[in-house]
Amino acid sequence: MSSTLKTAAPTPISRPPARPQPFPGLPEGVLLWQEYLSRAEQEAMVEDVRAAITQAPLFRGTMPKTGKPLGLQMSNLGDLGWFADRSGYRYVPTHPKTGAPWPAILPSLMALWQTLGDYPAPPEACLVNYYGPENKLSLHQDMDELDVHAPILSVSLGDQALYRLGGLARKDKTQSFRLNSGDVLVLTGPARMRFHGVDRIYPGTSTLLKQPGRINLTLRRVNLPPD
Ligand code: SIN
Ligand code: FE2
Repeated sequence: MSSTLKTAAPTPISRPPARPQPFPGLPEGVLLWQEYLSRAEQEAMVEDVRAAITQAPLFRGTMPKTGKPLGLQMSNLGDLGWFADRSGYRYVPTHPKTGAPWPAILPSLMALWQTLGDYPAPPEACLVNYYGPENKLSLHQDMDELDVHAPILSVSLGDQALYRLGGLARKDKTQSFRLNSGDVLVLTGPARMRFHGVDRIYPGTSTLLKQPGRINLTLRRVNLPPD
């Protein structure tokens, strides 16, 4: 009996695109999703951040010890915002100049936290850092939060940055890599308290913003979640 085996045309399977995987080879707890956000998502985010900072204008904090202005301009979204003045680094519920509560954290950022943050409680603060082409951020730890188990999730928008990642002690060896527009970086678990900073911005490497520079948004959980 001869039968002709007909090969059926493969049935197209519709499945959602595979979730991007974090970049391999980074230390445990350092999760980098390169260009996680599409151009359209980045544009929408910039527009929403611009709208928020017309309500909560960028400002420069001052260093607690010296009273010298910080290099970066910043603002915040959320119930709490990070702030620095003579009395120290801390989270405050209102804008230091306008006295108004910070605008709400964007729904698109809340969704990112849900997808990539892997943490049961929502973020309470989103620090908006604005880097001009000359700005940098010296090596530091994020240590003003009571909840040090929650991840820090950061989104890069605009020109490339040279990011420096250190260890848990200031003197530890560091490694550097570039962050691109649309990248999402999470420091979590054993990496939550790693030193980090931004050594330089590469002006002209992105067309997302109207002028050279970079916006970095970091989502933070500040207080311990209620039981
Ligand atoms: C920060 O550490 O607050 C910002 C890091 C970044 O700009 O990528
Ligand atoms: Fe930081």
